[in-house]
Amino acid sequence: EEQSVHPTDRAYEHLMEAFKPEIVPAYRQLTRAVHAYDTRIFAQLNHNGQQCSGSLSRLPVWAPSAVPDVMYREVPKVMEIEDIREVVEHFALSAVHVREGGFDGVELQFGHSSLARQFMSPLTNFRNDEYGGDFENRMRFPLQVLAAVREAVGPDFTVGVRLCADELIPGGLTLEDSKQIARRLEETGLVDYFNLTLATFYNLYMVGGPMHVPLGYAVPLSAGIKEAVSLPVFATGRINDPVLAERILAEGRADMIGVVRGQIADPDFARKAREGRTEEIRYCIACNQNCYGRVGLNKTIGCVQNPAVGQEATEGEHNLRPALRKKRVMVVGGGPAGMWAAKIATLRGHQVTLYEKEEELGGQVLLAARGAGREEFGVIARNERNQLARLRVPVRLGVEVTPEFVLEQQPDAVIVATGSRPKPRPVPGAEGPRVFNVWQVLRGEADLGENVAVIDYDGHHQATSTAELLAELGKRVHMITSSLFIGAELGPSQDLYLARQRLLQKGVTFTADFAVMEIKGTEIHGFNVYSNVWDVLDGYDSVVTVMGNEVCDELYFALKGRVPELYRVGDCVAPRKVDMAIYEGYMAGKRV
Ligand SMILES: Cc1cc2nc3c(=O)[nH]c(=O)nc-3n(C[C@H](O)[C@H](O)[C@H](O)COP(=O)(O)O)c2cc1C
Ligand code: SF4
Repeated sequence: EEQSVHPTDRAYEHLMEAFKPEIVPAYRQLTRAVHAYDTRIFAQLNHNGQQCSGSLSRLPVWAPSAVPDVMYREVPKVMEIEDIREVVEHFALSAVHVREGGFDGVELQFGHSSLARQFMSPLTNFRNDEYGGDFENRMRFPLQVLAAVREAVGPDFTVGVRLCADELIPGGLTLEDSKQIARRLEETGLVDYFNLTLATFYNLYMVGGPMHVPLGYAVPLSAGIKEAVSLPVFATGRINDPVLAERILAEGRADMIGVVRGQIADPDFARKAREGRTEEIRYCIACNQNCYGRVGLNKTIGCVQNPAVGQEATEGEHNLRPALRKKRVMVVGGGPAGMWAAKIATLRGHQVTLYEKEEELGGQVLLAARGAGREEFGVIARNERNQLARLRVPVRLGVEVTPEFVLEQQPDAVIVATGSRPKPRPVPGAEGPRVFNVWQVLRGEADLGENVAVIDYDGHHQATSTAELLAELGKRVHMITSSLFIGAELGPSQDLYLARQRLLQKGVTFTADFAVMEIKGTEIHGFNVYSNVWDVLDGYDSVVTVMGNEVCDELYFALKGRVPELYRVGDCVAPRKVDMAIYEGYMAGKRV
């Protein structure tokens, strides 16, 4: 986790400030807690340079040249020589705090989001003094930082460097440039290892590659840098599986493996890998919804699949309060909410039976996984099926649970997780024969013809992955949204750029700002939300609606007041995303 070295770098509110002396006691608390688990912890020191806003610090952002970041769009102050010196000194001061705080080493962030990279890269350094121009000049700032930090921490403390191995942008640093940089840093004898990253402010979505990016996508870069240097080199990026990690090491393409999201999703990743319990790992699916997605919005970190992130020691699956009285619990609905409720209640000692009306556990997750490139979403269901099998939770598939059936069973508690279904008539005319909802399409139940309109009131993957699937099937697809653009909810998870790129490459066209009021046959009637001008979009063989769900709450209300304990979780409370379904299932499992 990066720590800021200077007041001009306050990229987000929760960023730790390593340059302040009062951080040392907090560091000690943190490092003691980690060392108690026989685990090493390093601090990463950074200045984000122009990849930052001054809105929190109320200071101008600092950079080598006046190049604004594409996201923040804030013109930076061109650093004067004194500013450069001050930041170098602050790196050294921060490194002293890191050492005093009990860390096992320090890593210098010279990678995707850093002032050091901005000095090294021809994209952001247009200086004509001794810090710009030729290679040696562009290396001057990172070399000075490295020398100052090494001097501050001494020879016996581990100092690593995180390098951007490829900026992946024309005119930016290439792998060959990064090899030269790595060699130059290695020559100093001051570095102990290289950790690698990639991309820059134009394409930050490649740092935490989303689901459509292949597993181990950055390994060729590690292998390239490894050829150039003799120091140990990390590979990181969508390595979510110990078997894949071992293969990369065995093939000599890296010396160490970084697993970030994989350990957010499953904090026991390393232990399970070491003990050969790979089938018990809760594999990260690179959805980015609650890790990058929440942190990017200045919220605390989360994970769709791990409701206890950040509270594992007190709230994790190993630390559940055993049930005071063992109860017979019926869980109705085998989607993510129901599976989690069944798992947690079982772990607490209850006698649980899980009922699912389909022949397979997973609920809507299985459907979502049918969207183009979304297969890995189904891993959520696989992860939990494995857990239920391991715990030997009785699962009754293909059973439509009725209120009478529940009352006959006389359970002590019932957890209803019956999910949701597409609204039958989200807009007048949606009941017409040429109009299909997204579930019908994903189940292969819709005969759509060639020209398809997709009405996207979702903004998330449901609409874009379905449109993409149809385009892959050779259909001409037009998407319509009342939002400013298609995929309006895909920004925080870093999916927006690549999703829109794929849709455009596959010939999908868009109409934005259009509120749909009625469908007549296959004509779509509505108005522009800004001009209020009415229009008709037509020429389609069929219309697909992605216009929201309604609750399946019939069982819950039929049982209300008739069973000793009753809970309702997930989409049958209100249709939302999978993280809330899992969270509520987990909470019900803890409460019952
Ligand atoms: C919540 C979160 C915070 C991150 N913060 C940093 C950071 O401070 N410094 C850094 O170099 N990388 C950071 N990263 C990027 C990761 O180090 C890593 O390169 C990236 O997530 C790809 O690895 P993974 O597929 O194992 O997650 C962060 C990633 C996540 C998910
Ligand atoms: S939210 Fe998604 S990407 Fe992030 S750690 Fe969890 S499973 Fe992985």
